Amino acid sequence: MIGGGYVGLVSGACFAEFGLHVAVVETNPDRLSALREGRIPIYEPGLDVLVETNARAGRLTFGDDIAQAVAGAEAVFIAVGTPPRNGDGAADLQYVHAAARQIAQALTGYAVIVTKSTVPVGSSRRIAEIIRATRPDLDFDVASNPEFLREGSAIDDCMRPDRVIIGLDQKQPERARRAEAVMQRVYEPLKKIDAPLVFTGLETAELTKYASNSFLAMKISFINEMADLCEKLGANVQELAYGMGLDDRIGSRFLNAGPGYGGSCFPKDTLALSRIAQEAQSGCRLVETTVQVNEARKAAMAGRIIAACGGSVNNKIVAVLGLTFKPETDDMRESASIPILHRLAEAGAHLQAYDPVGMDAAKSLLPPETTYCENALEAAQGADVLVVLTEWEQFRSISPKDLAQRMQNKIIVDLRNIFDPAVMRQSGFSYLSVGRP
Ligand code: NAD
Ligand code: UDX
Repeated sequence: MIGGGYVGLVSGACFAEFGLHVAVVETNPDRLSALREGRIPIYEPGLDVLVETNARAGRLTFGDDIAQAVAGAEAVFIAVGTPPRNGDGAADLQYVHAAARQIAQALTGYAVIVTKSTVPVGSSRRIAEIIRATRPDLDFDVASNPEFLREGSAIDDCMRPDRVIIGLDQKQPERARRAEAVMQRVYEPLKKIDAPLVFTGLETAELTKYASNSFLAMKISFINEMADLCEKLGANVQELAYGMGLDDRIGSRFLNAGPGYGGSCFPKDTLALSRIAQEAQSGCRLVETTVQVNEARKAAMAGRIIAACGGSVNNKIVAVLGLTFKPETDDMRESASIPILHRLAEAGAHLQAYDPVGMDAAKSLLPPETTYCENALEAAQGADVLVVLTEWEQFRSISPKDLAQRMQNKIIVDLRNIFDPAVMRQSGFSYLSVGRP
């Protein structure tokens, strides 16, 4: 497994749990030394136990020596980052291509080189070209196996996936059969739980990942626009989403209105799909609009908070609950909190923030003058307004009475709809949420 980040570490540990022998290669010295010392460098529920158990059983090892890791390997997975390229939003493939070259140099026999990273259509064939150019003598096949795990529920998503997509070079049926046999063995345990293994061509597998993420992002942007409309018309977006979701064809998931989607995947993958479509001279207006709607939404959220404070937050204390892009992760990538809190700081607000696990990662991304607190009630101390940005479970049980005692002005802007409007109003708060009267 090349790359020991959110995807490489979780899938490596899950493969080890399947009974496979997994060597994770990680080049970041901080991440690697943590892993070698038995510490988990990211926050992901359940990952510590899974890693420890499998490392102790000798099925999961960590190192930076790629030659040692790939020696005798039947499958080599690439799970390195594919961040957006500066300027045009296309996926930056430099880490993937470097990994392909390193793998080619290190392999000693036949292996299937599998891309788990999210990569544009055509990347698997490009990886094959790079490997052939580096090692013309090498016998290998490529496969595309995009990862669909969500942070916060990553282990369950890997151990019990809705589906596993495996793209093979169907233009070469003999080779595709050989690679398929290896992939069938990797995912053998999932057959017992009837998880569908879907075999496709390379291009389809690569595109399925972008299409799935973009569709979900579009669903969120849709409900966010419905929330705005509900506010204008006196309707309730939660009831609307419930009513819509009961139709199986729509489904109830990913219909929670909020401050705009973030994370390491939706923002970058929607941008990348727009680029892929542009380069293919094919229309992708729904996805392009989804990107615009989401960017505009994140930018507009600070305005809501300022309006709730009577038009100015200058010299006001803003308590912030939640910083990460969603609960149960320490990941701050593309979190809505970043643009919102910068805009509030520029408008003169004093920020008092609390997040259960994201504060270390937040420090380099948020306004430097932000005060980080020990808990939610400390953040609320003396505040003029309290803003909920991430729906951590622990925030739902905060007592309105405790908040009221600490806050200077009883204003709440709940951008994740975690509190009951009636209860908040009864407790004397001026309470604003998303898409609810
Ligand atoms: P990440 O940045 O957390 O992890 C990538 C790791 O690879 C880093 O630790 C880096 O040091 C390491 N690395 C880079 N080059 C290396 C090399 N040559 N050898 C060894 N290690 C190397 O990224 P991530 O969130 O795990 O995402 C990885 C890929 O998976 C991306 O393409 C992403 O789009 C995709 N993906 C991510 C998620 C998610 O929820 N994070 C879900 C599905 C798919
Ligand atoms: C996503 C995909 O769900 C996953 O399949 C893929 O492999 C990686 O990208 P992740 O980024 O971990 O996973 O988080 P996800 O739960 O999808 O949430 C993404 C963003 O959408 C978050 O900012 C979240 O707050 C937001 N969201 C999600 C909503 O605003 N409303 C919803 O109903 C669901």
